[in-house]
Amino acid sequence: MDIRFDAASVKFGARQALEPLSLSLAQARIGIVGLNGSGKSTAAKLVAGLLQPTAGKVCLNGLDTVTDAKALSGKTGYIFQNPANQIIMPIVGEDMEFGLRNRKMDKAARLAAVSQTLDQLGIAHLEKRRAHELSGGELQLAALAAVLVTGPDLIILDEPTNQLDLKNRRMVEATIAGLSQQLIVISHDLDLLNGFDRVLVFHEGRLVEDGAPAHAIARYREIAA
Ligand SMILES: Nc1ncnc2c1ncn2[C@@H]1O[C@H](COP(=O)(O)OP(=O)(O)OP(=O)(O)O)[C@@H](O)[C@H]1O
Ligand SMILES: [Mg+2]
Repeated sequence: MDIRFDAASVKFGARQALEPLSLSLAQARIGIVGLNGSGKSTAAKLVAGLLQPTAGKVCLNGLDTVTDAKALSGKTGYIFQNPANQIIMPIVGEDMEFGLRNRKMDKAARLAAVSQTLDQLGIAHLEKRRAHELSGGELQLAALAAVLVTGPDLIILDEPTNQLDLKNRRMVEATIAGLSQQLIVISHDLDLLNGFDRVLVFHEGRLVEDGAPAHAIARYREIAA
């Protein structure tokens, strides 16, 4: 999708979380880095329509995320920094099916879509598991599955490998690399962004760098020093 920020800014009370941002993004693999509180999640939530800009606008393929929200419904999936917050039903497979309830699909079609997505991610064994009993890596994959099953064109992953050990990190990284959808990945795990088309660096609510991963990450290291 063609993602366009047009002087979009976000204020929470008196706090300016995102300074006016104008930017056009169409790459398949877009990374976002920056210190804690720099505005990464805020910018990403604007794209997903989870937040509305205080001023300006954000458009996807020319459709405004606020005024055309209905037409954009289901086009973008967002996996939160803490995926436990987005699992609604107790059992992994039920949670995935729940996301399809308002589609024109009968139960058999919903269950088939759930199985197909679980197989795609190699986690069919998690279908009957209780979400709150899953490990961090399993939970991350279950949250991804619940988003993927709804068929979005763009998936936003907010720090998908944050709390994972090296083994789970590798597993989630490999799964992400295999996705065919357009991705925006917010990450402090800089290895994850190797090979990305474009990496944005946020600092204090501003976009301060925008380029190839090595270039952007070098700037981020300077900021963090
Ligand atoms: N709902 C909210 N209400 C008030 N302030 C908020 C809210 N969400 C974010 N902020 C503030 O906006 C600023 C940017 O937050 P944001 O979540 O975008 O940062 P981030 O770059 O994603 O950080 P992190 O790496 O810690 O996730 C921070 O100062 C934060 O405290
Ligand atoms: Mg964040």
